Amino acid sequence: MQTGRHIVNLALIGFMGTGKTSVGKLVAEQLHLEFLDTDELIQSRTGRTIADIFAKEGEPMFRALERQLVDELSHRTKLLISTGGGLPTNLENLAKLKSHALVICLWSSPEKIWERVGHQSHRPLLHDANPQKKIRDLLAAREPFYKQADVLVNTDIRSLREVAQQVALQFKLATRDKK
Ligand code: S3P
Repeated sequence: MQTGRHIVNLALIGFMGTGKTSVGKLVAEQLHLEFLDTDELIQSRTGRTIADIFAKEGEPMFRALERQLVDELSHRTKLLISTGGGLPTNLENLAKLKSHALVICLWSSPEKIWERVGHQSHRPLLHDANPQKKIRDLLAAREPFYKQADVLVNTDIRSLREVAQQVALQFKLATRDKK
């Protein structure tokens, strides 16, 4: 893939439950990149869970923490950045990530997402009377943002390892001969 950019990092974007963290860890190990998860970083820095931040300060505070992190990460190299599902809905975040990273979106259907996250309870946005509808609506609203990724990988039809292989391959193609 020819992007004409100076790509030194890899960023995974995509909806909750598309496998960003699991895939990211596998690929980071394979490509010798440092794995970072924006949700984990926010939690370790604030000493609070995301659910707690959402409950006490609200979503805008969480989004501000995400923006701050995106700014900081743009000065670093050799990272695999796994992002929270809503992070790229801020176009400035997306543009900043693209300035240094190959941005790959892991895509899933709402049905698969529900299969993966339905039994989990730590995501405040899914604390809803009808979480399946919430997933469908949020995914539809976010699709235009996710589709601005450099590469889209459909995770419905691939195993975790196959998704990781695709991601690693795309990064190698985007960075070959440019090191
Ligand atoms: C969110 C996704 C979560 C987390 C927060 C908000 C979202 O991350 O950042 O609960 O807006 O989709 P994951 O995508 O890692 O679940």
